[in-house]
Amino acid sequence: MNNKHLLKLLDLSREEIHEILDLADQLKYDQKHGIPHEVLKGKTLAMIFSKNSTRTRVSFEVGMFQLGGHALFLSNAVSQIGRGEPVQDTARVLSRYCDGIMIRTFEQQEVEDLAKYGSIPVINGLTDFCHPCQVLADLMTIREHKAKLEGLKICYIGDGNNMANSIIVGGLKCGMDVSVASPSGYQPDQQVKDFAASVTDAKFVLTGDPVEAARDADVIFTDVWASMGQEQEKAEREKAFAGYQVNDKLMAAAKPDCMVQHCLPAHRGEEITEEVFEAHAGEIFDEAENRLHAQKAVMALLMK
Ligand code: CP
Ligand code: NVA
Repeated sequence: MNNKHLLKLLDLSREEIHEILDLADQLKYDQKHGIPHEVLKGKTLAMIFSKNSTRTRVSFEVGMFQLGGHALFLSNAVSQIGRGEPVQDTARVLSRYCDGIMIRTFEQQEVEDLAKYGSIPVINGLTDFCHPCQVLADLMTIREHKAKLEGLKICYIGDGNNMANSIIVGGLKCGMDVSVASPSGYQPDQQVKDFAASVTDAKFVLTGDPVEAARDADVIFTDVWASMGQEQEKAEREKAFAGYQVNDKLMAAAKPDCMVQHCLPAHRGEEITEEVFEAHAGEIFDEAENRLHAQKAVMALLMK
């Protein structure tokens, strides 16, 4: 892996993504077969959380433990970060104690600055711009179920948010056709659309029509209509996304063996129906489990 950090999928090559996924498969196998892999023995990961989390916190903390290391939870509420200590200083202090930093925050710039001012690997655990760890786990899950990535059609329905941005970049980088249905005003980031326009070996479609996006899809993704930090926009977003639900009617447009992926937490009855969620719960919880294995691979590659 040439990259020193995992700040966004835009920074990774197809080969680097596959290197992570291959190691993740190996670590998953080892974990299930009781084969020890304490490659980060004696190392510490600082985990900065400016937003809530269940999966990210638990999978990083358990992952560090399984790799023989230690993880340190730093929430805004209890650290000086929450009282405004500059990121330049936090980066330099944590670099003196720890071997890596995982951060979940609002601004992508904060993550980029941590990497710039610190001297240890930085891993993005979600920003408003992207969610690279989640999409690495998603790609791992799709590869497990479909035995390949290249040539598949993946589709994202809903808000052009951090998940949409990362799915578009991750999917296209792996040679998958990507179609996105979002209402106007809620489209993916311009930087991501520019990247998509530059890709020549996979197709990108952005439409307002969910059925068009879902047609013949191998995988359908969706995510919440109001992300963390957008709680006050809930009512207006419910109106804007009313036609953008993953339900049986939409699934009928996709391939008969189409998978469903949701990063969770899910809002049943909003972006996805109870029926579709439960019919695909096996795949969705495989996806949640694979956060652990994919992130262990990222940490092993960056922090060893
Ligand atoms: N999918 C995801 O990142 O979940 P958490 O918010 O629980 O970490
Ligand atoms: N888009 C969601 C993802 C949560 C894992 C959010 O940012 O809240």
